[in-house]
This record gives sequence, structure tokens and C-alpha cells, in this order.
Amino acid sequence: MEIAGSVSARAANLHGSVRILSIAAAAWFVVTAIGQWIFVFYVTAFYGPLLFGKGLAGLDETHLPAGYVPGDLMGNLALGFHLLIAIVIIGGGPLQLIPQIRARFPAFHRYLGRTYVAMAVLTSIAGLFLVWTRGVIGGSVAHIAISLDGLLIILFAVIALRHAIARKIDKHRRWALRLFMVVSAVWFYRIGLMFWFMTTGGIGIDTETFTGPFLTFLFFGQMLVPLAILEIYLRAKDGSSSAGKFAAAGLIGIATFGMVIGIFAATMGMWLPRI
Ligand code: HEM
Repeated sequence: MEIAGSVSARAANLHGSVRILSIAAAAWFVVTAIGQWIFVFYVTAFYGPLLFGKGLAGLDETHLPAGYVPGDLMGNLALGFHLLIAIVIIGGGPLQLIPQIRARFPAFHRYLGRTYVAMAVLTSIAGLFLVWTRGVIGGSVAHIAISLDGLLIILFAVIALRHAIARKIDKHRRWALRLFMVVSAVWFYRIGLMFWFMTTGGIGIDTETFTGPFLTFLFFGQMLVPLAILEIYLRAKDGSSSAGKFAAAGLIGIATFGMVIGIFAATMGMWLPRI
């Protein structure tokens, strides 16, 4: 009797932890989708009229350190392409993660997935070209970190696609999620930066040189922290420990709360004022 009671208590605990973990993941997804679509809205509303109204020369009217560079046709084209593609991949990425869309519209998922992978690879090549020919603010650490992100995007895109073609759906799902995290790194960077300015005023950031310990952390953290949290989530989800699931749900909950603050700060302090 006692044994049966403790078994059913354990089962109820496990059931509760599975539920809490899936609620935390769903909350993270909703916040991410809303935050990324706000970013897409900004990119479209800010760069769209400049590029379509004035062509590549419109890049001269942006805050970018090297927007339009006279005589550098390849660089200007790469940047214009990079910005327009950002709209497709950041806008489409969250749609790929919605299970109902995958189940009800598999052809749409496949079509958008192929577009997403191709565009992510092409825009990373354009980004790598820009960084290596024009440089980037934040010095050599930023240079290395964003180059690493570009290389990870290309690598993860190839792996996710290969698993999809081989119909190894579980592996495909995992690598597609990793790809989503590294593609979203530029967005995590912006909300992380604005979260930090809003909550600490910018401790560990030298705003003159755009270097400093916090930025060193953020340049790499923009991809490594989301990847680490994803691995913790996947292991907790697959494991049988309810404590592990509760802990992962707590971690995702804290990260999601921080993201809400970062999205608010980036929207109000960075994106809306530019439109
Ligand atoms: C694939 C995901 C990526 C997306 C969605 C993306 C999106 C963007 C956006 C929206 C901007 C305009 C900046 C702003 O207004 O805030 C930008 C600028 C830029 N991106 Fe990307 N980007 C991605 C990946 C990369 C990668 C992997 C690299 C380099 C390896 C890169 C290099 C650059 C450069 C050099 C600029 C010019 C401005 C600057 O120096 O910050 N991007 N990107």
C-alpha cells in the first residue's frame, strides 16, 4: 500500500514536472517570437524605405559604422542583401518552431525550412565578407566572436538539412533548434546589451571603444548561453528526473523574464527611436 502510494506520488511529481517544463518552453517561445517580430518590424520599417527609396546609397543615412562606402560596390551590395535577408530569416524562424504548423502544413514547413537554411548560409557569408573587409566595432574579440557565429550557422545549417533529408527527424529537430539559436545570436546580443544598460547602466562596458569585460562575455554569450540553455532543456526533457525538469523550467523561466526586460529595453531604447 505504502509502496503503491509512493509510486503514484512519484508519477504525479514527474507528470507535474513535465507540464511545468513544457509551460516554461512555451512561454520562452512566445516571448522569443514576439521579440523577434518586433526586431523584424524595425528592420523592415527602418531599412526598407531607405533601400527601396534610395538604393544602396540609402545606407549612408543609417547609424551603421560603415553603411554606404563609396566605391565599395561588393560591400554595399553585401550589406543591402544582408539586411533584406534578415527580414526573411528572423521573421520566418519562429514559424518553423510551431508544432501545429509543422503537423498541419508539412509542405510549408519544408519550403520555409529550405529557404531559411539557404538564406541563413548566404547572409552569414555576406556577414563574414563584411566583417573581414570592413571590420566591426568592438575590436578583435567582437571580430572573432561574430565570425564564429557565422561559421556555426553554416555548420549547423548543413547538419540540420542533412538529417532532414535522411528523415532522421529527432536529430533534425535538435540541430534545427541549435541553428535557430545561432541565427538568433544577433538578436540575443541586442536584447542582452539593452537589458544590461537598463539594469546596471552599462557596468563593464567602455562606450568610447565599445570594449570591456561585459562585452567580451556578451560577444560570445550571444550564442553560447542560448546553446547551453537549449542543451539543458533537451537533456531535462529526455531524462526521467523530475528535479532536473523543474530545475530546467526554473532556468528557462528566469531567462525568459530577463528576455522580456531586454526586449522592452531594445524596443524602446534602440529600435522604435530609429523608425
Ligand atoms: C544570420 C543571422 C543574422 C541576422 C538576422 C543579422 C541581421 C543584421 C541586422 C538587422 C543588421 C543591422 C544592424 C541594426 O540595425 O541593428 C546587421 C548588421 C551587420 N551584420 Fe548581421 N545578421 C546576422 C548574422 C551576421 C553574421 C554571422 C555576421 C558576420 C559574420 C554579420 C555581420 C554584420 C555586419 C558587419 C553588420 C553591419 C553593422 C555592424 O558593423 O554592426 N551578421 N545584421
